[in-house]
Amino acid sequence: MNYDTVRSVDPAVADALEAEVDRQGDTLAMIASENHVSEAVLEAQSSVLTNKYAEGYPGSRYYGGCEHADTVEQLAIDRAKELWGAEYVNVQPHSGSQANMAVYTAMLEPGDKILSLDLTHGGHLSHGHPKNFAGQVYEVENYEVDEESGRIDFDEVRAHAEEFDPDMIVSGFSAYPREVQWEEFQAIADDVDAYHLSDIAHITGLVAAGVHESPVGVADFVTGSTHKTIRAGRGGIVMADEEYGDAIDSAIIPGTQGGPLMHNIAGKAVGFQEALQPHFEEYAEQTLKNAQALADHLQDHGFSLVSGGTDNHLVLVDLRDSHPNVTGKEAEEALEDVGIVLNANTVPGETRSPFVASGIRAGTPALTTRGFDEDACETVGHCIAEVIDNPDDEDVKAEVAEIVTGLCEEFPLYDDDTEGLVFE
Ligand SMILES: Cc1ncc(COP(=O)(O)O)c(C=O)c1O
Repeated sequence: MNYDTVRSVDPAVADALEAEVDRQGDTLAMIASENHVSEAVLEAQSSVLTNKYAEGYPGSRYYGGCEHADTVEQLAIDRAKELWGAEYVNVQPHSGSQANMAVYTAMLEPGDKILSLDLTHGGHLSHGHPKNFAGQVYEVENYEVDEESGRIDFDEVRAHAEEFDPDMIVSGFSAYPREVQWEEFQAIADDVDAYHLSDIAHITGLVAAGVHESPVGVADFVTGSTHKTIRAGRGGIVMADEEYGDAIDSAIIPGTQGGPLMHNIAGKAVGFQEALQPHFEEYAEQTLKNAQALADHLQDHGFSLVSGGTDNHLVLVDLRDSHPNVTGKEAEEALEDVGIVLNANTVPGETRSPFVASGIRAGTPALTTRGFDEDACETVGHCIAEVIDNPDDEDVKAEVAEIVTGLCEEFPLYDDDTEGLVFE
């Protein structure tokens, strides 16, 4: 993959783009929210649709010349409806955070109350953190996971909801390794007369493939990102029952966005088409098997995992018991030295700052896209364990870096010598 045309105009950016292609190929992307899109999605995202203003929706735009934009957006909508079984879908949010903003703006008034999971327990900034718009416009309180089990404690959520009387309850998380019981959240929301927003940003692909319980048809609103476990390029999506369609549509445009990023919507259409093929279910199943293999290896090696394991695409390692003197940040940096890219993460009951943290979060969606199987993920688990056991030992790190290089060569990415990343 080269950027010759960019290079002829702007060598500095071409250098950075080509270096990034190499970085992605030569390292293991284990940030749980990352993935690699196909070359078809890359092509659609860099298409001439970036030139087109298409404010409005298919068939009803504020500008002329939108017939092809209409085709692409309608395909994205129809495919999303088929993938997730939603009555109403909006594919225009620029990101998962914007999708959440659209739902809040459509259904809440400033000062209304939101109950969501605490950020340090696995929630997300857009669920009402004080530094996020939602935390500034709405009154927000947080529930927490049970510190012993690492799981949602529905009795606590219910008690909190009854006391706080929220207008909206947010479920769906950034760092929660377990299945989520959407019905339990919905029952609580119903009982306190609140809306229920289920944010499946991380698990959109797992839900679409049917390997994780779906909140569609259970929660009032479902939002997500389109670039994590579904490989449809960077963006967001909102799903709901038809009755909320008009309110969400106008919360997105004119409420919170201008012209849709039509080239990204083309990427979504193509990525959704790929996800409708039978191989996508195999991909999603393999993602879970790989996370399981990683979890098993780390546990056998003596690491504590929040909640004792995983049901989905990520593991959350709590370093406090096994490695009290290694912070999440130190582990992250030592692993990056050997080509394993993941992030430090807070753990329930965190005492360090979120930037330093006491845990690491590791995901298998991107490795699985490269073709990693359970054996390869066990090897990755071995590499992670070796480095965290010996974060300052340069000999150990050199040995592990060699193993990582071998894995990268065995599972190439955007490789000019092969057919590249094609999902069909
Ligand atoms: C639960 C959750 N919601 C929303 C988002 C935000 O997604 P985006 O980066 O697409 O805005 C994330 C990102 O990781 C997330 O984990």
